[in-house]
Amino acid sequence: MTERDPATLTLAPIVGAQGSVALPGSKSISNRSLLLAALADGTTRLTGLLDADDTQRMIEALRLLGVRIEHDRGSGDCVVVGVGPAFPNRSASLFLGNAGTAVRPLTAVLAMQGGKYRIDGVARMRERPIGDLVDALRHQGCELDYLASAGFPPLAIGPAGGRAGGRIPIRGDVSSQFLSALLIALPVARGAADAATTVELVTPLISRPYVEITTRLMQRFGVGVATPDPSTFRVEAGARYASPGTLHVEGDASSASYFLAAGVIGGGPVRVTGVGRNSTQGDVAFADVLAKQGADLRYGDDWIEARRGRPLAGGRIDCLAIPDAAMTLAIVALFAGAPTRLTNIGSWRVKETDRIAAMATELAKLGADVAVGEDWLEVAPLASFRHAAIDTYDDHRMAMCFALAAFGGAGVTINDPACVRKTFPDFFERFAQIAGGATGPAAQALPTVIAIDGPAASGKGTVAERVARALGLRYLDSGSLYRLVALLALERNVAADDVPGLTGIAGTLAPDFSGGRIGVEGRDVTEALRSEAVSAMASRVAVHAPVRSALLARQRAFRAPPGLVAEGRDMGTVVFPDARLKVFLTASAEARAGRRHKQLIEKGISAKMDDLLRDIRERDARDSSRAAAPLAPAADAVVLDSTDLSVSAVTDAVLALYQARGGAGGRG
Ligand code: DC
Repeated sequence: MTERDPATLTLAPIVGAQGSVALPGSKSISNRSLLLAALADGTTRLTGLLDADDTQRMIEALRLLGVRIEHDRGSGDCVVVGVGPAFPNRSASLFLGNAGTAVRPLTAVLAMQGGKYRIDGVARMRERPIGDLVDALRHQGCELDYLASAGFPPLAIGPAGGRAGGRIPIRGDVSSQFLSALLIALPVARGAADAATTVELVTPLISRPYVEITTRLMQRFGVGVATPDPSTFRVEAGARYASPGTLHVEGDASSASYFLAAGVIGGGPVRVTGVGRNSTQGDVAFADVLAKQGADLRYGDDWIEARRGRPLAGGRIDCLAIPDAAMTLAIVALFAGAPTRLTNIGSWRVKETDRIAAMATELAKLGADVAVGEDWLEVAPLASFRHAAIDTYDDHRMAMCFALAAFGGAGVTINDPACVRKTFPDFFERFAQIAGGATGPAAQALPTVIAIDGPAASGKGTVAERVARALGLRYLDSGSLYRLVALLALERNVAADDVPGLTGIAGTLAPDFSGGRIGVEGRDVTEALRSEAVSAMASRVAVHAPVRSALLARQRAFRAPPGLVAEGRDMGTVVFPDARLKVFLTASAEARAGRRHKQLIEKGISAKMDDLLRDIRERDARDSSRAAAPLAPAADAVVLDSTDLSVSAVTDAVLALYQARGGAGGRG
């Protein structure tokens, strides 16, 4: 955000994403590096440091403690003059905002060192637990007092300090920052020159990759942490931090998640630079999760690139190691083909806000179907998004991940967007650079679409095929996808109201559209798809929102150069809301029944006009009365009544409309 912070930010519907984003520095690495550099012998130059609220809190605190820091906010270069193991100022009152990466390690270091310190933060920080860390520090003789509620900041630290040596038990299942903080503080403790100290996890460790960031950085500053087994961490006698000279801060892998997800949902490719395949940050595993879900991910030494691949799978995802990036998965789930359950996310409850509750409340505003438990969240795919104003709870990640909801077709409003300043002050500017709205860059790069919608037997299939041929564009008969689901459901005895069964078929459908025929499971079903039984079943299958969502990405994947003519019921409203030309083709029910009758007679099939008319009316009623994407012209569609027009006349009319909109040279 810039000078004035707006109260809300409305993102217009985004139709594609493409481009490259240089990531801001990693928050986790920035704050750890600042502290270690301060406690080291010698001067350290940090390059690529994150310039955001959380790092400013750490820098201010270190300056108050007597550390000289020169931070060139333009280039990200920061020079820290180390003070050796103890801070010069032995008394200070530190206000650390909502920065867990400052509160926890500073508490541990100051308590081990001893002095007269006070540590506090914003109201939410006073609700974030720190008791397990305080217990572990007291175990070593540190003096800490709770100034308000037991177990939470604010804290008063006393002069005694703590001693190294022995074994310290600590819990790992509330926040991995407790273990990280303790490890960072051990070389500062009394007697650290002569005694080794072992820290032992007494409960399983969440977010282990963050502890690995800590131990790797300690190693860069000359202090090894031995891990003889996964729950034991040992710092040897004589440990003392020494400057590595220059240290480059990697890009933030959690921040990368929003852009990678945008690449997948919006087509891509979207590239983030600053992290790559060898990153030390656990959140790069988010990219692997996306790939497993079906996305197309590519990696370099210093970049990761994401683009749409297969339709996203959904299913169960264990998020223990990637709690922050997992929030992005909760939004990605809206665009998947099946429900997604995120498990092992109990730590969300003690982050910037109760993220499980916040996520469930705000997803519901979009119209999503959400279920939650103590440590899990399940999100169903969403076919038609409602525009909503999303509350962000002073949580940067809520604001950033909900920006992705703008891909849902209805846009999204983010309340208090400035909360991103915690870790990513210019997030929305960067997001706008890769997101293609009606006027964005990616939209211009997307192949053109002509959407032709209308009721059964309106002639849209024949017209769409002829338009595609005349213009040399690709052609999508979206009804055939619903018909394929119907055919397989009939064959497998899956009932018309068995939504999970039908969604399963839709999510795994692998049709072959080559050579003007339609194949599935290795057989040609072109004729079978046109049977009356399949037609009737298709219109029943199509009423279910989860089935429609499961087919969404598959339909959008047809949009490829040189462009697409797509026909169906919701091409202009849901699937391609940004289509250059939208035509709604209609005709009287009698005229349509007459056309179908003629087709059948030509094929040598006898049929009664009355029966056909009744069938058509029933299907019209079902298609237009259903809740999910009912048959209706888009607001900006041209309605063509073909009752008294020949197929050629309608085709010519559509071609003329397209030329009037700039033909292939226009946008969208
Ligand atoms: O266009 P068609 O008759 O082949 O479509 C078969 C069924 O699929 C129809 O009853 C409605 C449904 N359908 C849909 O709901 N949305 C689409 N885009 C295409 C078809």
